[in-house]
Amino acid sequence: MSKKSNKMAEPKATKMDFNSAFQRTPSVIFHVKQSMEDFYLSDDTLEQITKQMEEEMVKGLGKDTNESAKVKMLPSFVQALADGSENGTFLALDLGGTNFRVLLVKLEHGEKPEMDSQIYKMPEEVITGSGEKLFDHIAQCMAEFLTRLNMKHVKLPVGFTFSFPCQQDRIDTARLISWTKGFSAEGVEGMDVVSLLREAIDRRGDIKVAIIAVVNDTVGTLMSCAYDIRDCMAGLIVGTGSNCCYMEKMKNVELLPGDEGDMCINMEWGAFGDDGALDIIRNGYDREVDCASLNKGKQLYEKMISGMYMGELVRLVLCKLTEDKVLFDGVASESLKTHGKFETAFVSQIERNVPNGYTALQNILHNLGLGALHSDCEIVEYVCEAVSTRAAYLCAAGIAAIARKIRANYPEKEELEFTVGVDGTVYRKHPTFAKNMAHKVGQLTEGRGINVKFALSYDGSGKGAALITAVAARLHMEKGKGEIVGR
Ligand code: BGC
Repeated sequence: MSKKSNKMAEPKATKMDFNSAFQRTPSVIFHVKQSMEDFYLSDDTLEQITKQMEEEMVKGLGKDTNESAKVKMLPSFVQALADGSENGTFLALDLGGTNFRVLLVKLEHGEKPEMDSQIYKMPEEVITGSGEKLFDHIAQCMAEFLTRLNMKHVKLPVGFTFSFPCQQDRIDTARLISWTKGFSAEGVEGMDVVSLLREAIDRRGDIKVAIIAVVNDTVGTLMSCAYDIRDCMAGLIVGTGSNCCYMEKMKNVELLPGDEGDMCINMEWGAFGDDGALDIIRNGYDREVDCASLNKGKQLYEKMISGMYMGELVRLVLCKLTEDKVLFDGVASESLKTHGKFETAFVSQIERNVPNGYTALQNILHNLGLGALHSDCEIVEYVCEAVSTRAAYLCAAGIAAIARKIRANYPEKEELEFTVGVDGTVYRKHPTFAKNMAHKVGQLTEGRGINVKFALSYDGSGKGAALITAVAARLHMEKGKGEIVGR
């Protein structure tokens, strides 16, 4: 794979000409540009990554190749999207980051769902402690929420959004493959998280619920979006972590019997590159981020894209440029030297505020103990832009691969148009991520009879999970198995 070509995918609107009154010397400009070269991806490289992702998808779906595939292409057992007939009151649980959310969702025949919810913090010692402690904490939050609503003794159907890679063999079981995003609770990997939650609920003995469905956040996002937009065929998350799901033809899902209909596949694309496929584009900063993480050598694509790592990548570059004496007069503050202190939210804030001048950026740097001149700000802005643009372009390569894969499933159509439902803080808050990604997807799918649109998906983990639970309950009833009572 050739990493560099003449056509560099430079971030747009960079100020690398430094055409302000605060010009740096040409040698500084040259040094900064050189240092950031490793973040640029040429169009040829992006095309290559798209092809590799497509190949990985086929490998993950194949019976004989799945075992060695890094992108696991996990069947979600969600086969039908909501049709507006869903009805009832559901409890939705959402675990995927440092917050745990419990939601009560009322669905009424296609009306806008009514929701009530509460956010609970997941303390560090809970997410990195024992599995038992983690599920006890979740059960305790559920009990508190139901007590507040005076619903502790109602046997509510539950949809559990559990946003980690899980092997499923039905809609209500999920065996955790491995933790991601800084979680490491012991004794959970390899176990069915629904059973662990049921055990924690039983240990308390004071709440009555029926866990009907366990879903990945991407799947909830797709479901929530598909409720309003009928041609929605994929769900994307660019938040703390990154991942995508899409509707695949059952005949291509070789690991499952049956050829009829569709299956929503949770790709777990974060693991793309864990076999070395991305080594040619990973740079020293990527390797440093990986080494400092709890899951070294894993989720390498995610580590180049998502919010858990973006700020840290920027921080490492800024440290290096300071060491090279082209930034902050060569003096790094303690905060700048500390892992995790440069938040991904800063990247979004910095890039959003640049058109209004550097005051916001100077404030951020000031709070990190850094006195920044205008010329320092230009460099910091440039670094943020290079890192976030690379993330958007890498994400675009993944989406283009999915688009091409879906396209191949509809050879009879002259043009295939579909929507990707998207959620996640990076996508929502970063000022140019969405635009850069959509633009690159357009380029990578040009001339292939594909038109990919993007739509913000609202509350996949609440509305989406409730819809999935409702559909699962309906199908269960239709199969003549009677009303769901949970276990
Ligand atoms: C997890 C996925 C999840 C994604 C977004 C990743 O770290 O492996 O299951 O969908 O984060 O939350």
